[in-house]
Formats: sequence, C-alpha cells, structure tokens
Amino acid sequence: MFNAKITGTGSYLPEKIVTNKYFESILDTSDEWIYARTGIKQRHVIAEHESTSSMAEIAANNALQAAGVDASEIDLIIVGTSSPDRVFPSTACILQNKLGTKGGAAFDVQAACSGFVYALGIANQFIKAGGAKKALVIGAEANSRILDYSDRNTCVIFGDGAGAVVLEASEEPGILSTHMHSDGQYQDLLYVNNPIKDQKHDGDQAFMTMQGNDVYKVAVKTLSRIVDETLEANKLLKSDVDWLIPHQANIRIISSVAKKLNMPMERVVLTIENQGNTSAASVPLALDQAVRDGRVKKGEIVLMEAFGGGFVWGSALVKM
Ligand code: UT7
Repeated sequence: MFNAKITGTGSYLPEKIVTNKYFESILDTSDEWIYARTGIKQRHVIAEHESTSSMAEIAANNALQAAGVDASEIDLIIVGTSSPDRVFPSTACILQNKLGTKGGAAFDVQAACSGFVYALGIANQFIKAGGAKKALVIGAEANSRILDYSDRNTCVIFGDGAGAVVLEASEEPGILSTHMHSDGQYQDLLYVNNPIKDQKHDGDQAFMTMQGNDVYKVAVKTLSRIVDETLEANKLLKSDVDWLIPHQANIRIISSVAKKLNMPMERVVLTIENQGNTSAASVPLALDQAVRDGRVKKGEIVLMEAFGGGFVWGSALVKM
C-alpha cells in the first residue's frame, strides 16, 4: 500500500481587492466592526472574465510546476467548491480540459468550507488503494457570485480564490490521517438555495444565507473535538504538531482552536486579514503561502481543519 504525499502546492488570488472601507459606503457597517468581529481587513474578488475554473487552473499549474509534474501525468482531479462554473459538468472536468489533458477521473466535492479537506481525504483513499498515482486536489471558490451585497451578515466575510496541491503515491509518509464528518440537522443555518429552482419560481438569484452566531458556537465546539480525534488517531501529542492550517472563517474561532492545541499564534498560518473567508479555498491558499514563504518545511507535521455549511467538518494530519 502506498502513502499519499503532497509534492507541490499552488494558489491564485484575483487582482481586485475590496477593503472594509468599501462596505462602509454601501452598508450599515464599519471597518472597526468587521475587523473586531472577524479579523478581516480586505478580500479578493474575481473579475467578470474570471471563473472558479480559471482560478483553479492557475493554482493547479503553480502546484504542478512546484511538484515537477506534467498535467498529462495526472490521473485524478478533485475540486472542492460550492460556487462551480456550472451545475454540471463539474468544475474539475472543465479544469481538466483547460489543463489540456483527458482520460483520468475528474469530479467536484461539494462540502462547503470543508471542500478541500474532504477532497484531500478522498484523494488520499484513492492513492492508498491504488486507484490513482498522481492527483490534483483543489479548493476554488467564486463566493462573490453567490453573495447578496445588501446582506451585511455575509457579504463582508467572504472572498474569492483558489489553492491546489499535487498528491502523489509515495513510499514516504505523507497524509497521516484524514477525518470527515457531517450533521445535516443544521442545514438552515448556512446555505445557498438551488439557483435553478429559485430562478424559475421567483426570478431571484440564489444567495448565501448565514445565521453567523449560531454557526460560530457549533464551529468552536466541533473543531476542538476534531483536534482531539486527529491526534488520538495518530497517537500524537499536541506538541508534535508544527503548524495549524485552519479554515479561515473567523480569527476568534481560529484562536480558540490554537488555544486548544496549546499552539502559539506564530505557529498558526493566518490569511484571513487579507483574504477573508474563501470557503473551500482557504486551507490550500494558506498552505501554499506558508510553503512558499519558507515557514512550512519538509518533514514538518501540519494539522489542517475546516468547518462549513451542512454542517460538514474535517481535518487532515500531514507530514510535509
Ligand atoms: O466558513 C463557514 C463557517 N462560517 C463560520 O464559521 C462563521 C461563524 N460566525 C462568525 O464568524 C460570526 O458569527 C460573525 C462574524 C458572522 C458575526 O459575528 P457575531 O459576533 O456572531 O455577531 P452577531 O451575528 O451576533 O451579530 C451582532 C450584531 C447584530 O446586531 P444586534 O442584533 O445586536 O443589533 C448584527 O445585526 O452585529 C450586527 N451585525 C453587523 N454590524 C455591523 C452583523 N453583521 C454586521 C456587520 N456590520 N457587517
């Protein structure tokens, strides 16, 4: 049986930046409120000509280059996204074509903000079982396309972007374990309705709706539990983890998970201030940033975790 190892990372952020100040001009909100309650100062927003797959393409090419792998060698593409280009075909299929390859399996995983962690878990199982040798695992979101810019509960929080990893069969340890969970009883706290149905019935586009405070409370409790579960599964101590790479939903949620791990904030990769919440893209965006700036080094142990609409939550413990 093979291990699955991350051999390259990549990411992409759209050029356009929207600061908190902009929202002061269109909504009853303030830079102070947004920063104090979330830790966000700005977020990136895609241009008209861009899409989830176009961002994924750039992130994927960066990861392929870092891994020294040609797109033609990839036999599995999984994209975690809740803002796909089309209802179908999958963004993974569209991406495969953009990368100039064909034949391998390609599909999307819809697990809201946990989309990348879920996709990584699935790709890990494929590789361990011998079903794939070289996979592209991506989190990509065009959240701005599913936001209502008159709803201050959501539009100030989310941003766009894409992150990718190349995952290869290897004899060295790589992904140590992945954990995935869900509980659909919370579906009404964070959701986007089906756009096809909505357009047919009331002509409206479907937008994200969130009961933020209720989501917050469950997220804090659930993420603390998954940290314990992940360490126990690997018989590791909190002190064995070198880096926490959390989903970037709220600096206060991230701090409470770091506290649970007894981890100083210098060992937590943070992108939330400049990127906001990029849903499924946030974990691979943070990973790529920390790999490229030299913080996360080969051989180090990284704990990734995420929580999102469903609720769905998950983690991955990875030896880089
Ligand atoms: O990534 C997927 C998972 N998502 C999450 O994990 C998000 C979790 N939730 C959160 O991060 C936080 O709950 C929020 C940042 C979304 C909201 O922060 P909060 O401290 O929970 O605020 P709240 O929802 O309890 O609202 C407090 C007040 C309310 O006003 P009243 O009722 O006290 O008068 C809101 O209407 O803040 C108001 N408010 C705002 N005020 C200024 C809500 N949004 C804004 C805003 N600007 N943008």
